[in-house]
Formats: sequence, C-alpha cells, structure tokens
Amino acid sequence: MAEEAEAASGAEKRDGEPKESKEEEEEQVVNPWEVAAKPGGKIDYDKLIDQFGCQRLDESLIDRVHRLTGRLPHIFLRRGVFFAHRDFNEILDAYERGDKFYLYTGRGPSSEALHLGHLVPFMFTKYLQEAFKVPLVIQLTDDEKCMWKNLSVEESQRLARENAKDIIACGFDITKTFIFSDFDYVGGSFYKNMVKVAKCVTYNKVVGIFGFTGEDHIGKVCFPPVQAVPSFPSSFPHLFSGRENLRCLIPCAIDQDPYFRMTRDVAPRIGYHKPSLIESSFFPALQGETGKMSASDPNSAIYVTDSAKVIKNKINKHAFSGGQDSLEKHRQYGANLEVDIPVKYLSFFLEDDAELEHIKKEYAAGRMLTGEVKKHLAEVLTELVERHRAARATVTDEMVDAFMAVRPLPHMFN
Ligand code: TRP
Repeated sequence: MAEEAEAASGAEKRDGEPKESKEEEEEQVVNPWEVAAKPGGKIDYDKLIDQFGCQRLDESLIDRVHRLTGRLPHIFLRRGVFFAHRDFNEILDAYERGDKFYLYTGRGPSSEALHLGHLVPFMFTKYLQEAFKVPLVIQLTDDEKCMWKNLSVEESQRLARENAKDIIACGFDITKTFIFSDFDYVGGSFYKNMVKVAKCVTYNKVVGIFGFTGEDHIGKVCFPPVQAVPSFPSSFPHLFSGRENLRCLIPCAIDQDPYFRMTRDVAPRIGYHKPSLIESSFFPALQGETGKMSASDPNSAIYVTDSAKVIKNKINKHAFSGGQDSLEKHRQYGANLEVDIPVKYLSFFLEDDAELEHIKKEYAAGRMLTGEVKKHLAEVLTELVERHRAARATVTDEMVDAFMAVRPLPHMFN
C-alpha cells in the first residue's frame, strides 16, 4: 500500500533537506547502508516500527508458528531477535489452508569473513526452511557491493562464491535451495520484472526512500529493482513456472526494509502479491548497542574465522560490561543487564532458556561476576564458531556450483 512507503520516506528527506541538518544528526539512522543510534543511546526499535510502518511480532503469532509447525519456535523468535513483520500472518493463513510459499533472503558479499551478525538471518532462514518445508532463493548482490564498496566486478564475484560457502555451511537443503549471484543470473524473466518495477518508481520516490543525492552515481539509483524482484515467483521460471501465485516470505534484518517497502508498494500495480517480511534487530557490536557490528573494525565483532583464543581476548577486552567497577559495588548493586553485552550475546546464542534466566538473575543480583559471564559466553561462541568452521571446511567448489546451478527443484515442497 502506498501509505507504507509514504510513512517511511517521510517528507523531510523527499523535500531534499540536507542530511547534515542538526535535527537529523541527532536522530538514529537506519537504512541499508548505515545503522547508528542517537549519540549515547541504543537503537530504539519501537520507534523504528512506527517510522517504517511495520508490525510488531507478538506472542500470538509465535504461538501460531509453534502450532502450525509442531516445533519449538526458534531461539530467535523466543528471545525477540526477530521482532517485526509485514503480513507474516497472511503467510501463516495461506500455510494453514495448505498453500505453500517460498523464502527469499540474501547477502551483499562485501567481505571475505562473516561475523556472527551475518549468520543470524541465515540460521533463522534454515530453521524456517526446515519447519515449513519450503523452497528458498538466496540472492548474492555482488553487483550491489561492487557499486557501493568500490570493489572490482571480479573481486565482488569472488567474494560472492566465498560467502556462498559460509551460507551453505549453515546447513541448507540442496534439494530446496537456489543460490544465485546477480552478475550471473540477472536476465530473462528476472530482468523483465526489474523493468516492470523500475517503470513504477519515480526518481523522486527512490530519493525519498533511500536518500540518494545528486552526487550518487546512477548505478545506485538503478539497483533497488534488482533486490525487489526475487520477491516475485515469475523471476525464477526454472523453479516456479505454473506457480506464479506463490507467496514469498523474506527473513531479513530491519535495515533492508526500505527495499521491500518499495517492492510492496509496486507489487499490486504489476499484478503480483506483496512479499511478506519477518525482520530482525541487529546483532550489536562488542562495544555496545549503538549500531550493528562493523566489518571494518575487527575488534567490534567476532568472526567465524576467529580462534578460541581470539574470541576469549575480544570478549575480555572489548565486550561492554554492565557490571560495577569494584567488587564491593558489584556485590551491592549487581549488574545493569540493559547495557551488558555478554548477556545480550548469550540471549542470541545460549539455547537453554533456564540457564540464561539463571545467569541473568545471579548477575543482576551481584552474585555472579562479569568475568564468569564472559567465560561462559566465550565457551558458547567458541563452540558455535568451531562448528561453523568444521561445516565450512566440507563445502567444496562443486557444491557451490551445485547450489548455484539454474535447475528445477522437483522435491522442493516435500
Ligand atoms: N542488500 C543486502 C545486503 O547488503 C543483500 C540482500 C539482497 C538481502 N536481497 C536480500 C538481504 C533479501 C535480506 C533479504 O546484505
């Protein structure tokens, strides 16, 4: 619906108010290229939901997922990591009626090594694929990163394949998963859909949604349709020919919302369903919850390539603690869990709900010390990262080719 795009693009940007204006500087910024809280603050997710015009993912929807799939909802649902959505209920309605859907997610391959934040949407997508038994398309936007990060075409393509190995290592089912690079796949029906979308979006609109300026090259202005059209089944005739009515669910971090606001705005005008979204908060930097982890500051993030020793040191040196400065004060006042990064990280990755509750209770009461919580976190993350590394080591070039082959998936709904 048009209001959705309106709500988020907001009059201020559309009228071309300069970005440096004082008011905007002090507000949080969340878009596909920048995530920053207000100075000294945390990302305000309630405000984002209002600003973007999406819906909060409430308990009743999570219960519905539980009922429909017969599986315990994923830790990222139980802990509120995925916290917002657009029309997720419609996907569940369709599923309940016996209609299937497909999943679409993606990655911009801008760096060789992934950090934990990058794994979050893929771990969750794998769960959705298993729980609902549905096909999945994964877009590697090598073109996007080539244009935004000033990488060469060849380097972006190389990174796309490297990242594909990490994605495959998350455990996707090859009989239900198609991974594609934009440089290789864009053309044919996919390109036809891009042109249909592009014709519906004015220059003013794209400036309003994405904040492009006159200095940005036209490659950026032309890119949004590329990320839009995997939402439409007809972009994948080898998969969905004869099933053009299939619905699409997109798991993503909420910074990708602008692309899909645009997509949802356009979809009905070109005769397609709007894609549904399920959106996550950001995995915070070790230094605190002011943004997402930055691939350019190695000490802000834990990478899947970090050794046990590096993980331990990073946590001990850089993880922002809500504990008190002295032992006496800590015993007296306890830790402030609101700002504590080790507890936050545990809430993403420590599966055992009872154990997490115990740690939070003891730590907040001052009976447990920061050092103990950090030690526990280092163990949990080391285990996760080592498991990922072992899985990635088994992914061969032939497997990458197999996942990326343009082929039908005859068993994708079984
Ligand atoms: N633009 C995303 C990024 O930079 C990549 C992407 C493409 C994506 N399509 C997507 C992410 C769909 C989530 C869902 O990482």
